[in-house]
Amino acid sequence: MTMPTDSRPYVPVARPISTRSITEALHRAVSAARYAPSADNAQPWRWRLDDDGLDLFIDSSRMTGAGGPGDRIAAVGCGAALQHARLALAALGWRATVTRLPDAADPRHLARLHIDAVARIGRRAVQAAQNVRLRHTDPRPVTGEPLGPRDLESFTAAVEAEGSRLHVLRPDEILRLLLASPPAAELGPLEAQWYEELARWAGRGPGAGETRHERAATFIVLHGPGDERVDWLRAGEALSAAWLVATEMHVSVLPLSAPVQRPAARDALRRTLGDRGDPYLVVRLGRNAGPAVVPHSPRLPLDQIVEVRGAGAEPRSR
Ligand SMILES: Cc1cc2nc3c(=O)[nH]c(=O)nc-3n(C[C@H](O)[C@H](O)[C@H](O)COP(=O)(O)O)c2cc1C
Repeated sequence: MTMPTDSRPYVPVARPISTRSITEALHRAVSAARYAPSADNAQPWRWRLDDDGLDLFIDSSRMTGAGGPGDRIAAVGCGAALQHARLALAALGWRATVTRLPDAADPRHLARLHIDAVARIGRRAVQAAQNVRLRHTDPRPVTGEPLGPRDLESFTAAVEAEGSRLHVLRPDEILRLLLASPPAAELGPLEAQWYEELARWAGRGPGAGETRHERAATFIVLHGPGDERVDWLRAGEALSAAWLVATEMHVSVLPLSAPVQRPAARDALRRTLGDRGDPYLVVRLGRNAGPAVVPHSPRLPLDQIVEVRGAGAEPRSR
């Protein structure tokens, strides 16, 4: 299934640009960004809002293992939040410029989002923005029809539009990943569970081949050109954009951080990718036979993630 193309003409806009309307739009962008996914739901971001834009800062203190791989994973979450904010502004009809890593002296300052002008509202942006509140992580076993090449084309397009790449893992590549996994005694229960699932998928674990649905899932690696903070930020923007496409297509998404956080597993992924770049995240995609009953995860209140400077009103929940 492919996403509908946005063939409908853009909705023309004719409305005044006022500080008030810009402030309102920025508050709405931050409200949307709250719903972005992040590892362990840590929400490792802080926003500063002023008269004509937003600044995004990473707050690694909310992550365990900050400074190491946890910091990279936190940057992915921040990228997802940035994509949500960008999308909200586009859906409201604002053109914004994004400057990533705008302050060389402050690596925590991940992005500046500056409103430039009114823009025409695209139907796809509105549709994707509506999916922000519907999107969620789905840890249930995947039991439905496997994804086809056209489904994967839609995800690939969304990922590539954000400057990252997607690689579909083959069984032998999953085996390589498994061979690099730590001894079972070193794994936490959740991590052990995902390695077991990968093993069953690859036909190696206990119970492999017993259930038809083991190969119903598709495992992909999100990857890109470098290992700098900006690359991880962009990976988060790509993950988020593709996840909203998946939500539209009723495809379940489960990111798996462990393979990129464990050095040996990460090296195995690097070998799989060869010269195609650095791995950012393994993600399980699939369809489920029934509707999701997974409760939505809570989010931090706005006053814990936003600082308002200059622009009049206080942030409000929506
Ligand atoms: C970078 C990143 C890594 C994640 N890693 C995992 C993971 O290893 N295992 C898992 O079950 N969920 C993982 N998640 C999903 C988060 O736990 C989830 O986004 C968060 O709890 C919020 O829930 P929601 O996505 O349903 O809104 C990850 C999400 C992100 C953005």
